[in-house]
Amino acid sequence: MAGQLDSASPSQLPHRSKPAEVTEQPPSSLAPAIGDNAGEAAESAASAGSDGAAPPSQESALEASDPRGLDTDSVGAPSSFSIGLSVDNGRDGDISEHGIQRPSSSVSATSSVYQFVEEFGRTYHAYKEGKYFMPNDIPEQERLDLQHSIAVRLFGKLALAPIKTPKRVLDIGTGTGIWAIEFANEHPESEVLGTDLSPIQPDYIPPNCHFEIDDAEDEWVFSHPFDLVHSRFMCGAFSDFPKVFRSAFANLAPGGWAEFQDYYVKMQCVDRSLAGTALERWNDLLLDGVARLGKNGLAVAKFKQQMVEAGFVDVVEKKFALPGNAWAKGREEKILGTMQMMNIMDGLHGISIGLFTKVFGMSVEEVEALIEDTRRDLQDRNIHFYYVVDKYERIWAETRIKGSKLFEVVLSGASW
Ligand SMILES: C[S@@+](CC[C@H](N)C(=O)[O-])C[C@H]1O[C@@H](n2cnc3c(N)ncnc32)[C@H](O)[C@@H]1O
Repeated sequence: MAGQLDSASPSQLPHRSKPAEVTEQPPSSLAPAIGDNAGEAAESAASAGSDGAAPPSQESALEASDPRGLDTDSVGAPSSFSIGLSVDNGRDGDISEHGIQRPSSSVSATSSVYQFVEEFGRTYHAYKEGKYFMPNDIPEQERLDLQHSIAVRLFGKLALAPIKTPKRVLDIGTGTGIWAIEFANEHPESEVLGTDLSPIQPDYIPPNCHFEIDDAEDEWVFSHPFDLVHSRFMCGAFSDFPKVFRSAFANLAPGGWAEFQDYYVKMQCVDRSLAGTALERWNDLLLDGVARLGKNGLAVAKFKQQMVEAGFVDVVEKKFALPGNAWAKGREEKILGTMQMMNIMDGLHGISIGLFTKVFGMSVEEVEALIEDTRRDLQDRNIHFYYVVDKYERIWAETRIKGSKLFEVVLSGASW
């Protein structure tokens, strides 16, 4: 498994051929490390530093009483883990950006019914116009497909939930549909449905794969339950994850699974090298900007609690460290880091231009200057930044008591 974080401190870790997955720790370790208890977090960071491990970035953590209305419960959550990445000072085995293979881009299936909104030289979804802040044009579609490759490489497979032959699968916020298409190809026995605000899925798709335009935050009106509900990289999209979890729960067949994968949008750092950079400023503006749109870039820290509240049982969380460029030691780390650097560089304009001009009143020139500085920092291997990507799965099964409206929810043996 690539990229899972390790409980050992980075300096103690032997070199691995693949980035380490986060050691499975009880999800309760998602307790706030900085936001709610800055003193405790600083103490633990200091003690981590004393045994040679690089402490997580403290400077970049948002304050507990964040004036921007961010959900500070979530802030700094990843820093309670060691990440299994170590700085490569020798620059061994460099990975060229040109050596990274991009997946071929999706062919847009745009219908004339959907007249995309044009702004800043980009196009945006027309259905529920303005709900999602990112563009939907070809450059963004190519970025999404690259991001898909990163996710599959990092996680090792399309889905970690131990599903065998799911009959009906739903992918909400499917984007270019690349996950749904690959899942349908891998599982010819499954019927896979992908939904999105944008009709940007290809025309040529497996016969067991379908796409619909739908807002996943609306009431779900599917005629049949699903065996797997999947969702990935939606923290900049959904305002109401608890509602989405409730919808997923209500639309799962007994024994079905839901799997949600997302970033902590706040960049982490193994030392102080991110502090004061344009990259950090850009990342803070992004978190602040989406918060002002009612989204929480740190939402993933609450997923477990919210899934349990929605009725899910046996929620399993796995954390993965994804380096932001090729700064980390190890070939796999360098490949993933280079891919992620390209992903963010490709996304810089689309992420920033509408958001920063509209939310902060910045001029286009100001945003472009910040993008330029951020682009430079993104390529700087002296900035040891990384993302934490989380996956959550859960299983539930219900046993109806004959003749009664009551039912009980039982575990049916998650195999993790
Ligand atoms: C960052 S992309 C992720 C795409 C895909 N899940 C993936 O991992 O490749 C977010 C996608 O969610 C879609 N989206 C945003 N808000 C949505 C909503 N309320 N309902 C359905 N799709 C939504 C966007 O149009 C975009 O395609």
